[in-house]
Amino acid sequence: MKRHVISSLISTDLVGESVTVCGWVRTFRNDQFLSVNDGSSLQNLQLVLDRDATPEATRKLLTTGAAVCAVGQLVESQGQGQATEVKVEQVEVLGPADPEEFPIQMKRHSMEFLREKAHLRFRTSTFSAVFRLRHALQFAVHDFFNSDGFYMLHTPIITSSDAEGAGEMFKVSTLDPTDLPLDDKGVVDYSQDFFGKPVNLTVSGQLEAELGAMALGKVYTFGPTFRAENSNTSRHLAEFWMIEPEVAFNDLSDNIDLAEACLKHVLTYVLKHNLAELEFLAQRELQAEKQLPADKRNAMGLIERLRFVTENSFIRLTYTEAIDLLRASKPFKKKKFKFPVEWGVDLQSEHERWLVEKKFNSPVVLTDYPASIKSFYMRQNDDGKTVAAMDVLVPGIGELIGGSQREERLDILEKKCEEFNIPKDHVWWYLETRKFGTAPHAGFGMGFERLVMFASGMTNIRDVIPFPRTPHSAEF
Ligand code: 4AD
Ligand code: MG
Repeated sequence: MKRHVISSLISTDLVGESVTVCGWVRTFRNDQFLSVNDGSSLQNLQLVLDRDATPEATRKLLTTGAAVCAVGQLVESQGQGQATEVKVEQVEVLGPADPEEFPIQMKRHSMEFLREKAHLRFRTSTFSAVFRLRHALQFAVHDFFNSDGFYMLHTPIITSSDAEGAGEMFKVSTLDPTDLPLDDKGVVDYSQDFFGKPVNLTVSGQLEAELGAMALGKVYTFGPTFRAENSNTSRHLAEFWMIEPEVAFNDLSDNIDLAEACLKHVLTYVLKHNLAELEFLAQRELQAEKQLPADKRNAMGLIERLRFVTENSFIRLTYTEAIDLLRASKPFKKKKFKFPVEWGVDLQSEHERWLVEKKFNSPVVLTDYPASIKSFYMRQNDDGKTVAAMDVLVPGIGELIGGSQREERLDILEKKCEEFNIPKDHVWWYLETRKFGTAPHAGFGMGFERLVMFASGMTNIRDVIPFPRTPHSAEF
């Protein structure tokens, strides 16, 4: 069957033609006006039925959520709110949706309720807009890197390395957990496991991407990553997608330039191609913010915020400068921060938010963090205390991007491995790139769901991925 997608019928181009439309019923009014959506656009198409020619048995089944197919003529609409409508000659209900049971009604449902109905929440305007936007953002990411001469690498999902050294990994094994093989010391004998050693789901494709960059020059990964951190926050998932470019011969400053250009490109892309979704989501945000006290609302609307990011340079400052600013801030002096602010401790979300939302109201790139709070692979600065790290913080989200220039000097990297208790025989392949033709290089990781949050204005990361994985939650 040839069908017309609704996005192709909402302008008047095909007026006069016979069209076939399939979709899901949003509303049915006066036994005559059937509003249908097929996911191709935010807009619904109005199907006008001939009441007398449509059997009552059919009309009864035209309830919210039912799947229908209709044939008719596309005409200019008589009514307001749409340019076109279909004068239906024939309508068929493919799959009814019992109104007593179908949970997604044409009223405002809470995000929590819809999370429990994640299999059906795509049917709402909000979620279909979010997932169209998500698609466009990933396309724009590939477009950015492809246009800039990068090669995409698929790095392994099952790996024996712990790139971030945080130890928060999901184990992968085919051993029977109720009957584990033990060695003489009573320790699990992984030589009998599928890979002959312990392996886990990857927390980052970076280390492998670095290997690729040392020959291909500019590479990136865009894959799923897994973290078993037990943080039930609105910004953490146990399974999320990350974009990780890695570039030979880049230093930290080049790395920041790349991150800034990438973010600007993808936001410019959706501002151009997904304005309808963005306008809808901006309205949704305004509605949601009505429930919040004034100081919790965004200072700018969604579209204004995105434009602001595309049009202004990011603020760049060092970790040390940020600590000085924070210690001089009002909330610090009034003891409003929950966590300590002193040189050497990691910044918490309350500190990051103060910097981006109160102090600068702009994306901020923090650089040169203390070595002790960052990963082993980051390049040591000449001061011996800090590393060439960068975090990009954005309003409403906090950390969107984390990256660094990499330690390319074999002797220093080997020392770092010792300090971080990373056995050299686990990362021998990583160290060899420093032994053979080593070169300065840098890269970063951008959390894709955090990007979708920023671009959509959604405030919970569970609402920008189709089926979120969080502690104690892996339904669907
Ligand atoms: O800062 P992270 O841990 O950096 C890395 O993994 C590096 N290997 C990246 C690199 O240099 N190639 O993570 C990078 C980004 C964070 O800034 C954040 O946006 C996102 O990944 N992220 C998460 N997103 C959702 N849920 C989580 N649990 C996340 N953890 C990190
Ligand atoms: Mg980080």
